Amino acid sequence: MCDECRDGPHADVERVLISSEQIDARLCGMALEIADVYAGQDAGLTLAPVMSGAIVFVADLIRKLPLKMKLAMTHVSTYPGATTQAHPPRVVVEPVGDLAGRHVLIVDDILDSGSTLRRVRAMAQERGALSVRSAVLLRKPGKAPPDVPVEFVGFDIDDLFVVGYGLDYDDHYRNFPHVGVLRAGLMP
Ligand code: IMP
Ligand code: MG
Repeated sequence: MCDECRDGPHADVERVLISSEQIDARLCGMALEIADVYAGQDAGLTLAPVMSGAIVFVADLIRKLPLKMKLAMTHVSTYPGATTQAHPPRVVVEPVGDLAGRHVLIVDDILDSGSTLRRVRAMAQERGALSVRSAVLLRKPGKAPPDVPVEFVGFDIDDLFVVGYGLDYDDHYRNFPHVGVLRAGLMP
């Protein structure tokens, strides 16, 4: 990353929780963990990124994955507009791509209550996936329900509302290169 963009354009971010350098290093480890599980499988691998939050994570992760793979994007909306209160996940676009008879790895930015992943897992199973696993960049511990297994986790974080590296508040800050916390007063 060039020096000029390292700090990003967002004076609204009060502090960086996880830097882009830390994320990059962890993604190398995650890619190896994922490759260990899927290498040598007969059926193909499809990654199903959950838009829009997973956009940056999946772009970086797949370039570190030494595996043949396909993508099946899906779009789920959980926090519509200027809110930090989750709404029931609304499927805006169902997975577009090959899931039937394939190993499906759902990729999302963060596991909070687990309702988004629960919904996408069910869609993958209904579409005939051979296996369904999940990878998230962030997990808020204590909130992940036992019926929503997540096999690959980048970082466990405290129960804070975070932005950057694909995560948004009111659809802003996805382009902030690190994971950070907004200044007080910007969110309800
Ligand atoms: P869950 O369905 O409650 O697990 O929430 C997952 C979705 O909510 C994620 O894919 C995010 O889009 C969004 N989300 C949850 N926590 C945060 C946060 O701290 N910042 C931004 N988005 C979040
Ligand atoms: Mg999301």
